[in-house]
Amino acid sequence: MSESIDTHELDVLVIGAGGAGLSAAISAAERDVSVGVVCKSLLGKAHTVMAEGGIAAALGNVAPADDWKSHFLDTMKGGWGLNDPRMAEIHAKESPERVRTLQEWGALFDRTDDGKISQRPFGGHRYDRLAHVGDRTGLEMIRTLQDKTVAEGIDVYQECTTTHLLLDGDQVAGALGVWRDDGSPILFRSKAVILATGGLGQCYRITSNSWEYTADGHAMALRAGAALVDMAFVQFHPTGMVWPKSVQGTLVTEGVRGEGGILLNSEDERFMFDYVPDAYEGSVAPTVEEADRWVAGDRDARPPPELLTRDVVARAILSEVSAGRGSPHGGVFLDIANQRSTEYIQEKLPAMVHQFRELAEIDITEDPMEVFPTCHYMMGGIRVDPETQETAVPGLYASGEVAGGLHGANRLGGNSLSDLLVFGNRAGHAAGDRAEGMDTFPPIDDEDVTNKLNSLEAPFEREDGTDPYALHAELQTVMEEYVGIMRDDDRLTTGIERLEDLAERAANTATDGSRAYNPGWEKCFAVRHLVEAGLAIAHAARERTESRGAHTRIDYPEPDEELERVEFAISLVGGEIDIAREAVPAPREELREMLQADTGEEETQ
Ligand code: FUM
Repeated sequence: MSESIDTHELDVLVIGAGGAGLSAAISAAERDVSVGVVCKSLLGKAHTVMAEGGIAAALGNVAPADDWKSHFLDTMKGGWGLNDPRMAEIHAKESPERVRTLQEWGALFDRTDDGKISQRPFGGHRYDRLAHVGDRTGLEMIRTLQDKTVAEGIDVYQECTTTHLLLDGDQVAGALGVWRDDGSPILFRSKAVILATGGLGQCYRITSNSWEYTADGHAMALRAGAALVDMAFVQFHPTGMVWPKSVQGTLVTEGVRGEGGILLNSEDERFMFDYVPDAYEGSVAPTVEEADRWVAGDRDARPPPELLTRDVVARAILSEVSAGRGSPHGGVFLDIANQRSTEYIQEKLPAMVHQFRELAEIDITEDPMEVFPTCHYMMGGIRVDPETQETAVPGLYASGEVAGGLHGANRLGGNSLSDLLVFGNRAGHAAGDRAEGMDTFPPIDDEDVTNKLNSLEAPFEREDGTDPYALHAELQTVMEEYVGIMRDDDRLTTGIERLEDLAERAANTATDGSRAYNPGWEKCFAVRHLVEAGLAIAHAARERTESRGAHTRIDYPEPDEELERVEFAISLVGGEIDIAREAVPAPREELREMLQADTGEEETQ
């Protein structure tokens, strides 16, 4: 069977061409192996571009006191201590070098007066740490990585959707997918496969994620035998556009607040001063004067509460709107116009000026924006080894948003771009090393391929199958109503029941027409992945009977000490979801002491 399919032998196959995938491919190609990258869309179209405000890296260009230790501590604090400490350590130590390497490859960063890479403040980072290119940092990163990928002669398979991983026993042997242009199947035989498929934002209706973010990597890894961790933690970025409806959810970069933007309710109150958590920095809210001094450059003052971590700001906005103090289109106001000069805004936030002018006919140098939380990022993901990014499936690696562990209960802005660079690089090297050490490709099971191809064809053969579009819309409603920002046991239990029903129907979707450029057919695979991811989120959220980071339980409003170092790992056992309560890896001695000193705790274990 497999001989009749368009078949490619690649030592290392990278699935996904965002920042993590391209970094991984470039690093794998440093070894003596053949490398190919598959992208569902066109090269350069990646959610990476939606990390607009910058790459977090302790370069110390603006704040010389910054170092990996501070970055590590901020990442752990932002993640409410649930982060894998070794991943947080590697990330903090290696980010500066990866940023400098990106610059060597051609990225044009904004500059300080003395010509260094400029760095800006962002929520939860104690120093000005985000290396940036205006408010288009992710775009510049992708442009640079894309150029490097092409320059290195790495094969790129564009408009090609991967639907299944192939196994030889318990090790990975390749992947199966379909070409978008004619719908024909494609088979990759590989010694190592790196999943860099990004997130699952299409589970939710209001999202900054585009159509590609359909949990493909999460679902394929689960089925192959890997585990998902921290799935309760979905990041709702505080500021997405609310109006016009057609662009609802489009990201408004945190850079707006980093550059001095403030949040106001319909009563013109700067409400974030009322939401500084008691436990946060052990502090009471700074005064407006103190926050203003910070914005003016006095880093001895405390930052404005608009720069609290995203979980805190998103909940505050939701509370204001729920209390009837929202803006005309159901958000709150984000004002930079009255805080900064027109020239300053145009220089620092050109993409935001353009975005609001083109999409909403608003001049943000004159008027406030209306914003509301938007599903932006998945903290949880496939469990990986911190050193190599290998999953529980030998030869299968995961890096970037699809991998779990680094960010714990909440990710700090800017830590995603550095995550992609650092762990993409590590995954590429590890996968390249594995492939170099193997003489032959693992065998492919023809019968398995035939079965998988039949399952791909099935939607064309069903007379009365489910409409995948209607199912996707229903999924988004269920996720928003029952597994959204505010959760409780009743809602989650109902959500799980509804999702189980959706899962049955998702296995029975139908489409018609040609196989060429058929988005309905594509939706049949995508919606299945999304429902599986939705179930993983809902189960993990129900199990986590506390509020921590991005996970808010109305029925358990406080963090539970018992769960401080607990992660819930989701795997498939006999096709059914299994949830295991497990300990988060403990920090090594030096890190433990650093954490204790930073929090002033007697004992963190
Ligand atoms: O707001 C932003 O620019 C997003 C950054 C991020 O998610 O890291």
